[in-house]
Amino acid sequence: MKFKRIKSINGELTVSGDKSISHRSVMLGSLAKGTTEVTGFLQGADCLSTISCFSKMGIDIINKQDGTVVICGKGMRGLEAPGDTLDVGNSGTTTRLMSGILAAQTFSSRVNGDASIQRRPMKRIMTPLAMMGADIRSELGNDCAPLIIKGTNLKGISYVSPVASAQVKSAILFAGLYAEGETSVTEPVLSRNHTELMLQEFGVDIKSEGTMVTIAPAKELLAKKVNVPGDISSAAYFMVAAAITPNSCVTIKNVGINPTRDGIIRVMKMMGAEISVEHVSKTGEPTADITVRTSELKGCVVGGDIIPTLIDEIPAIAVLACFAKGETIIKDAEELKVKESNRIDVMVSNLKAMGADIEEAEDGMIINGGKCLHGSYIDSKLDHRIAMSFAVAAMNADGETEIGGFECVDISYPAFYNDLNRLVVD
Ligand code: S3P
Repeated sequence: MKFKRIKSINGELTVSGDKSISHRSVMLGSLAKGTTEVTGFLQGADCLSTISCFSKMGIDIINKQDGTVVICGKGMRGLEAPGDTLDVGNSGTTTRLMSGILAAQTFSSRVNGDASIQRRPMKRIMTPLAMMGADIRSELGNDCAPLIIKGTNLKGISYVSPVASAQVKSAILFAGLYAEGETSVTEPVLSRNHTELMLQEFGVDIKSEGTMVTIAPAKELLAKKVNVPGDISSAAYFMVAAAITPNSCVTIKNVGINPTRDGIIRVMKMMGAEISVEHVSKTGEPTADITVRTSELKGCVVGGDIIPTLIDEIPAIAVLACFAKGETIIKDAEELKVKESNRIDVMVSNLKAMGADIEEAEDGMIINGGKCLHGSYIDSKLDHRIAMSFAVAAMNADGETEIGGFECVDISYPAFYNDLNRLVVD
């Protein structure tokens, strides 16, 4: 896919549904007894992988034309042994969260995905699940997928996680649904809490206090209607594009602004962006309309407790920082190295290729903004967030940029290119 400088980006849009919430709705809907109807479900490849895995375990899931997904849950003990390997595609969330559920079943399963999944660390879930009594191993002995999970009886634990990861926390909480006794997880910094909120909605006894969450084993989950808000991680590309492109103003409607996910709004404000958050709704997952206008930006330090609240937006924030006056330091973000690609490495090398003044650090990057960017060939490494971030950079660079593997945006935002085209003036 090729991109050139644009004149402006203007208008209103709703981005596709939140990826994290969409995954969880299928998993909990499958374990609940009765019908769970999900509106605003993200029709991205990752969430379709979750649907396909739970369908393989005997759950009827109807994916309607209008994007509504209906899950005919069969209760906590309703899953059936899958005939063959559960294919998670590119989805780390499916792999890790589903493993917590599989660990407690009465059958065995094999979980595998694409080349990127086979490189991603799974020890972070294997260790706590094994402490609960799970029989989970890496087929190749490298702590990565394929995973072989023999379902068994589990016991509750109090786990102090070395990493602020919602995927780790959620895998343990899902296993905790089936365990004997209470299970608690304490994180170094609070990660996204969609699992906690949805479990509560589904009637589970779960309590959070600071960075600790405690779950009691469940007898049955209550099927629920789930409304998935727009994904702030997808909105991020439009927020950044509007801020750095001349004569621009973009409103993104109905975006999820859960405080464990809203770091990009806080960072954009720190950088001086003209951003407003309106029509805030606080029932369940909070939502709002976000408007961003062309802005005079200044560099800032992004690090510490804010990192988990914007971890997936760091590639977009790195692009933003290239258009800010002065230095932006992104630190405490070593988790970026184990995402769909090594996002520190890939952002730094590709932004350098476009002429940015950027240096790699062990736990992030340092960007000196204000250098004029020029077109280049960008290898997305088939990482959806890299591809979309460079589309935004390229629309504000001289010459032409070609992004290799751009189709990977289908993972989280299949309509990205169409939505962009509708708003861009070139
Ligand atoms: C996710 C958690 C985050 C995030 C990922 C989705 C989730 O990963 O990067 O895109 O839905 O729980 P970690 O838990 O590994 O930080």
